[in-house]
Amino acid sequence: MVKSFKIEDRAAALVEKSTLLKILNYIDTVDLKTPVLLMDGDRLRRSVATVGRGIDGCKVFYAVKANPSPKVLRLLAALDVGFEISNEGELNVLSMLGVSPERIISSNPVKAADFIESAYSYGVRYFAFDSPAEIIKMSELAPNSNLYLRLAVPNEGSEWPLSRKFGVEIEDALKLLIMAKDSRLNPMGITFHVGSQCNNIYNWNIALDKARLLSDMAAEAGIAISLINIGGGYPIKYTKNVLTVEAIERHINKLIKDRFPETAVYLEPGRAFVGDAGIMVARVTGKADRLDGRWLYIDVGVFNGLMESIGGIKYTYITEAHAGQSVKDNWTLAGPSCDSFDVIDKNVQLCEPEVGDMVLILSGGAYTISYASEFNGCAIPETVIV
Ligand SMILES: Cc1ncc(COP(=O)(O)O)c(C=O)c1O
Repeated sequence: MVKSFKIEDRAAALVEKSTLLKILNYIDTVDLKTPVLLMDGDRLRRSVATVGRGIDGCKVFYAVKANPSPKVLRLLAALDVGFEISNEGELNVLSMLGVSPERIISSNPVKAADFIESAYSYGVRYFAFDSPAEIIKMSELAPNSNLYLRLAVPNEGSEWPLSRKFGVEIEDALKLLIMAKDSRLNPMGITFHVGSQCNNIYNWNIALDKARLLSDMAAEAGIAISLINIGGGYPIKYTKNVLTVEAIERHINKLIKDRFPETAVYLEPGRAFVGDAGIMVARVTGKADRLDGRWLYIDVGVFNGLMESIGGIKYTYITEAHAGQSVKDNWTLAGPSCDSFDVIDKNVQLCEPEVGDMVLILSGGAYTISYASEFNGCAIPETVIV
């Protein structure tokens, strides 16, 4: 049966028209089992064709953690793009797909020994690091590898900050580069991450300034920095407009031309590569009026796909249209498990859906299925490329 959805201007402005139309058509042609993540294959191909292209000579390594679905990876593997991995499971999928080691790097600064061994024996030779313990491991398990040092940089203005767990300040960074050089390794690069869903373009200025300073200090110590890996961080449209890839790359390109004119540049986009190619389709499983207001329950939640909602990521929802609907209510939106932690959002303004109705969750392609668990017997959404 052809479904009719209530698509408000605000939602229409956030999603690419071709992606939405394609997904709406698909929903009409199949008997869809929910929850399901529908990914627009053409949009993924466009990511490969556009992201990173505004930075001269930039090589792109898709951060697999954003969406490790073998279907997504198979599509990308057939195109001109590399892959950034952090752990054994990600390596296994790429090796199953026959991705050659020259197309793979690992930017996890603290890697399990087993993973280092497998990646090295597979032929991966580019790794991040930020501690003496990692240098000791790498020198034993991956001698002569090319190492890039993870520098701490500000993550202000990024909705999903990544600065606390990894990264060192310049003085320690220099000591680590020297230690790596003295340990049968090839420290040749600097990396950083400005924070995921970064809306502050000046984070790249500070990061690249710090990297330049470190690079000069390294040169004085006899270490040539020939690679700058600028990580990920590009934002996508969840509930509002964000900096475009073109605007960010115009800015970064100028900064790099000025500070690193001769240096190779790597980029590791995750969210911006796959996020807005995906629309999560869920169904309403129930509704209730409680003391604190109206609650709407759907079959995808914090545990089986929308984990980032508890870290502050807010989604835009499209619900089915029904005759006579006009008044919007404020809903608390909750997932399918029995855990009271499983609350996706509060004060979501929606016209009242019926139990069994579909709910489309826009920009659902990144950091959804990769975080999902089957807690409480709730299914992880299947990924379908349309
Ligand atoms: C080392 C590294 N590179 C790249 C990414 C991808 O970042 P984003 O999804 O913000 O583009 C991440 C995300 O956590 C990361 O940790």
